[in-house]
Amino acid sequence: MNDTVLDHRTEAGDIVVEARNLTRYYDVGGSPFSEKGVVKALDGVSFKLAAGQTLAVVGESGCGKSTLARLVTMIEPPTSGELLIDGQPVTQFTAELRRKMQIVFQNPYGSLNPRQKIGAILEEPLVINTKDNATTRRAKAIAMMERVGLRAEHYERYPHMFSGGQRQRIAIARALMLNPKILVLDEPVSALDVSIQAQVLNILMDLQAELGLAYLFISHDLSVVKHLADDIMVMYLGKPVETGPSEDVFAHPHHPYTAALLSATPVADPFHEKHRIRLEGELPSPLDPPKGCAFNPRCWRATQECRDRQPALTEAGSQTHACFHPLPAESPATS
Ligand SMILES: Nc1ncnc2c1ncn2[C@@H]1O[C@H](COP(=O)(O)OP(=O)(O)OP(=O)(O)O)[C@@H](O)[C@H]1O
Ligand SMILES: [Mg+2]
Repeated sequence: MNDTVLDHRTEAGDIVVEARNLTRYYDVGGSPFSEKGVVKALDGVSFKLAAGQTLAVVGESGCGKSTLARLVTMIEPPTSGELLIDGQPVTQFTAELRRKMQIVFQNPYGSLNPRQKIGAILEEPLVINTKDNATTRRAKAIAMMERVGLRAEHYERYPHMFSGGQRQRIAIARALMLNPKILVLDEPVSALDVSIQAQVLNILMDLQAELGLAYLFISHDLSVVKHLADDIMVMYLGKPVETGPSEDVFAHPHHPYTAALLSATPVADPFHEKHRIRLEGELPSPLDPPKGCAFNPRCWRATQECRDRQPALTEAGSQTHACFHPLPAESPATS
């Protein structure tokens, strides 16, 4: 198969992934030792992602980010809802679809086979999916290594000979071997030292600009996505609570939860004093979520209404929020 056939690049602006109300419930318990219950890991998530763009999905541990990643990459099917790739509803996982979309996981130590050399790791997708001969495969592997900042002599080395940052570059290179259009990045830099994080993020941004890739970028840390995201979706207990263009969400968070996450991120300008919001309490159990707005037990703006009724996602300018008492334009979190 030649390069033209493998090339899935699209003009920026085309919607490459659309999620409509994606939902995933898990039945848990039911043994003599634990009660039966349902975890609503993902409870109605919708978004559109265009070629060349980055949608960042942000929220605390357990809010459903990896579940979303598994549904979008078709590792598991949704309980309900619809996934569209290139405008086509996905009903079965074809090889063609899997090639369009690749995933990079958080842990670069666990995701690479320790017994395979880097060259073999990178060439494996070509062996399985193309008729490329050994010479072509090697040339493609080395070209991709150089693209992610690795050197040709690394071809014969094993994963244990690399640092965490280098391993994550290898995982990214492997994900790109079949020219996908979409990368799902599930906490791709969270396991790395802060100094290394920026290098990997820069490589991802360069690759996106060169190849027109769409990124679904998952992170628990808003500061990581600040320079990279076009749009942001903030999740809480399986549901989106705020969405919008990254700049607008950072400048003016509507939802108190977004404001609290933002105030926990480092301040870029030390002269600009920031009012810190402390998030009280723990994330509630997804098996027994609070009545009303799931955030209400931790929210300083909550009223009786928030304890009684669940707010729907509502449009407000360029953003949407699921809150009865959104923050005013001059919120303390941003001033
Ligand atoms: N296979 C499963 N069976 C039962 N519950 C599950 C399963 N997978 C995930 N969950 C639950 O669904 C919820 C969402 O999990 P998920 O891994 O998607 O969160 P996350 O946002 O990726 O968290 P983290 O930041 O820790 O990676 C959690 O409460 C989790 O325990
Ligand atoms: Mg996760």
